[in-house]
Amino acid sequence: MKRFDQSPTDPQFVQNPYPTYKQVRDTDEIVWWGTYGMACAMSYDTVRLALRDKRMGREQPAELVQPVPDHMKPFYAIEAHSMLELEPPVHTRLRGQVLRAFTSRRIAALGPEIEALSHHLIDQFPEGPFDLLDAFAKPLPVIIIARLLGVPEEDADQLLIWSNAMVAMYQAGRTRQIEDDASRAALDFTAYLQDVIAAKRKAPADDLISTLIAASDSGEKLNENELITTCILLLNAGHEATVHTIGNGTKTLLETGHRDITDGCVEEILRFDPPLHMFTRHVYEDVSLGGHDFKRGDQIGCMLAAANRDPLAYPDPDVFDPTRPIKQNTSFGGGIHFCVGAPLARLELKIALAALFDRCPNLAIAAPPQYGNVYHFHGLTALQVTT
Ligand code: HEM
Repeated sequence: MKRFDQSPTDPQFVQNPYPTYKQVRDTDEIVWWGTYGMACAMSYDTVRLALRDKRMGREQPAELVQPVPDHMKPFYAIEAHSMLELEPPVHTRLRGQVLRAFTSRRIAALGPEIEALSHHLIDQFPEGPFDLLDAFAKPLPVIIIARLLGVPEEDADQLLIWSNAMVAMYQAGRTRQIEDDASRAALDFTAYLQDVIAAKRKAPADDLISTLIAASDSGEKLNENELITTCILLLNAGHEATVHTIGNGTKTLLETGHRDITDGCVEEILRFDPPLHMFTRHVYEDVSLGGHDFKRGDQIGCMLAAANRDPLAYPDPDVFDPTRPIKQNTSFGGGIHFCVGAPLARLELKIALAALFDRCPNLAIAAPPQYGNVYHFHGLTALQVTT
């Protein structure tokens, strides 16, 4: 297998990883990323196949599971029940409960709220240059997911702190401090949710947590630990990727002069500069992919953002073209783990960006935006703009 070496946090790579993806994908569909010690699927076809192949999955094979050091136990106690890290039958049961609660009716009903919240945030934009991430992209998704779940939106800032501390665990080169902070956040977040759940048991409401509690109380469908992890997963997964898609997307729209927020535009934003570039799969049984053989215990990196720039799937892939025919991109993953929140994320992007460009026709970049030098999220550190 061909090999490449590239630090995932090298500032030059992080600012624009796409030329590297192209160079590597041109050598082969699957290439060994030395820095990670892992084979990485680079082409659209191999990424889609790997995401959907039932001989691979997110859960680590039992014989490879390492004992968790004490200081990380609280964090992994939560992860142990996360559908994103599990396979059938448990994955099917957990995901089924969420899908039952996460109905299209409930999502569609959020449309007017997303619209009103977008306008409320725009009303408060300051006069001079300001950071659009802080003023718009960050508050919107977390308030919406808080309302959907049924936790007080005044707690949004605290939820963001816990969530950021927990998702930091996925970054390359994490430190002991990051591990300690993630475990602390896991404990505090759990205690907070235990109180919320106790209160909702007494006074259920028309929200996702109450629906999940009903499922958990009515039988063996969801135990208390699974209920807590599922709420944390939805809160964590439900905002940061959306924040960065709003940020990256607005930057692209401002740079390319596109203003018409159609469904095609939203899909192109997701394809062109997604917030999550790599999701891995564990191999469970012998499988051949892209002309390479893999065996149980191997891991394959699915390079979502590289797949989206594959010229065999998208002609002129480096051109941002909202009119290109809609074709399923890989930004929400695929197979049984395909993002549960995709319909909500798409709705948020469409409504929020339309409101933004409608209300701020002179929106312009005020300082060159920089991406954060991390690889678990591809997102801007700030987006300074003027209206
Ligand atoms: C633009 C925003 C978003 C992006 C780019 C995104 C992307 C992803 C990706 C790549 C995966 C992994 C799929 C795989 O491994 O095949 C995923 C899974 C997931 N996402 Fe999202 N997501 C977004 C928004 C959301 C929102 C708003 C929610 C919840 C409200 C959410 C909840 C989840 C959950 C629960 C999973 C795990 C699904 C499973 O394992 O079955 N995501 N997402």
